[in-house]
Amino acid sequence: MVYTTDRVFTETGIFVEVVIVPDSAAGGELIAEAMADLLRRKPDALLGVATGSTPLPIYEALAAKVAAKEVDASRARICQLDEYVGLPAGHPESYRSVVLREVVEPLGLNQDSFMGPDGAAEDVAAACAAYDRALAEAGGVDLQLLGIGTDGHIGFNEPCSSLASRTRIKTLTQQTRVDNARFFDGDIEQVPHHVITQGIGTILEARHLVLLATGEAKADAVALAVEGPLSALVPASALQLHPHATVVVDESAASGLKLAGYFRATYAAKPDWQGI
Ligand code: GLP
Repeated sequence: MVYTTDRVFTETGIFVEVVIVPDSAAGGELIAEAMADLLRRKPDALLGVATGSTPLPIYEALAAKVAAKEVDASRARICQLDEYVGLPAGHPESYRSVVLREVVEPLGLNQDSFMGPDGAAEDVAAACAAYDRALAEAGGVDLQLLGIGTDGHIGFNEPCSSLASRTRIKTLTQQTRVDNARFFDGDIEQVPHHVITQGIGTILEARHLVLLATGEAKADAVALAVEGPLSALVPASALQLHPHATVVVDESAASGLKLAGYFRATYAAKPDWQGI
């Protein structure tokens, strides 16, 4: 299957754009090409990145494009979606460390081109407000990558987060702490209880939202987010409010979608669909 990324056409504002790909590598490649395409048009684009295991194929594919000189990412700017509160500075699983390791360094960028919320701040509320201001002063996020939690969260906006929320401190649900324990030697006690996350209102200000979900464990959350009612119970359903939101799913993560056939026909095979 061939995808192109010179986006011109989308049924903007009508549906979330859902692209079903064979596997996570294809999803990574498609999204990396969308990011490369953006960087060719806007070399200093502000790219919002997500953590977790799902987006890693995107970062690998983008780094490969940079290494192959298919795109120059030297002026790209990177910003974080969320951060744990209370991990010691430099902890390998702080999202700052993860983004430096998985994105900033492989792209050959330096730390000056990277910003995130300060999870070690004494005054967390002030740090959250400062981060929202910094994003706005940087001109806003051009493309925000998102994953999705099994409970439908985006960033760390857990169920019942306000759809208008700004960057703020949140308490993780037990389910998210269990899900994320694999990054902490499988020990849930090591997973922080608190986090700073861009709010849903903050996320919705990005010019393009791109959510990648892979694997069967995400199928229910994806179906509720895309086809269910707009609801604070499923924070990812807020994508339905955005004029340009793209959800890229592999076959397993697409398995709960009632409209899978429609999405296949509309966003992949149809010749007038020109990509994300
Ligand atoms: C964390 C992150 C989210 C991410 C989610 C899913 O909770 N804060 O941004 O989407 O994990 O992670 P994974 O992709 O590893 O399933």
